[in-house]
Amino acid sequence: MKTLLSLLLASTLVACVGGIEEPPVNPVPNPLGTPDGDGNDNGDNPAGGDLTAAKQLFDSGVYSTLKAKCTGGACHNETGTGGSVTKFVADDPARGWQIATNYAALVSFYVPTSAPVLTKIANGHEGVEYLPTEVDAITAWLNKELELRNGQPNMPPGGGETLGAAGERVMQEFAGCLNIDDFLAVDFGLKWGNKGSNEGQCEQCHTNGAFRFLANNDNQKMHRRLTKEKYEFLMYFTPDLTNGPAAAKMIVNRPAFYGVAEGLDPHREHPQFNANDDDIAIIALKDLYDRTQARIAGGKVGCLPGALTN
Ligand code: HEC
Repeated sequence: MKTLLSLLLASTLVACVGGIEEPPVNPVPNPLGTPDGDGNDNGDNPAGGDLTAAKQLFDSGVYSTLKAKCTGGACHNETGTGGSVTKFVADDPARGWQIATNYAALVSFYVPTSAPVLTKIANGHEGVEYLPTEVDAITAWLNKELELRNGQPNMPPGGGETLGAAGERVMQEFAGCLNIDDFLAVDFGLKWGNKGSNEGQCEQCHTNGAFRFLANNDNQKMHRRLTKEKYEFLMYFTPDLTNGPAAAKMIVNRPAFYGVAEGLDPHREHPQFNANDDDIAIIALKDLYDRTQARIAGGKVGCLPGALTN
């Protein structure tokens, strides 16, 4: 609401000066630019690509698999009441892709080797197994999302590293350079654990990493988990592949928070919170990012080999 209000105020002010300002077309401001095309403008389509081809791969080859394998016991279906888990399978197939792509807990920003939709199953989850053809269909869909959202071919012309492999490489490098001294310096745990929402602090629900998001005011624990648990790490940081594999780098994962903060579909019932630049937890996240990048740039002092696992 705060964002909406400040946007409204800002546009009123502009209107007073210029007199020709149009009201915003999108009622919820997309903080990162153009609409995402997936029904939740949280900035997770940085290249602004047309996602139709990815949606088609999901609709034809993935939805039915998720529907068949993940809704047993009413676990992951949208309207299911079973378990305290992520409800990523839409009841209506027409909305299947929109719901699935807006759960970071499921897709983790589309790198096939890191997306829980695949890795969780590979690790043996609830006895669910995919057939090789199903794995291939999910992998092809994820790669297509990655390609379109980053505006880059998955495999560069002439061969070499794929987008997914580059994403994996930079996330391991970055995670290896997350240093406990920096967590303590910015008091990362306290800022995120105690961060408020309209239904209590993040820690109340996420203290142990529920829904793949960890917020705990113990800096040691935050450091330990974010250097090991890939999914939890990926809620805070994500690869930027918009300039191709060779130029891959990590960035702060703002999209992980925007849609959730504003209660955008499918996070309608999530408590609302401030995910903007003036928020002290966001400031601490950027600070931790800058310190980690400085370590990478400065000869990797205080870094270890990346140890993220699925
Ligand atoms: C009252 C409990 C509760 C509180 C408090 C809470 N959350 Fe959540 N959170 C949930 C539930 C339930 C989900 C899974 C459903 C969803 O994704 O909307 C979730 C999911 C998430 C996700 C994963 C979304 C995805 O795309 O998979 C993020 C990120 C997140 N929360 C951030 C936060 C932050 C930041 C705070 C504190 C400002 C917070 N949450 C406070 C209950 C809570």
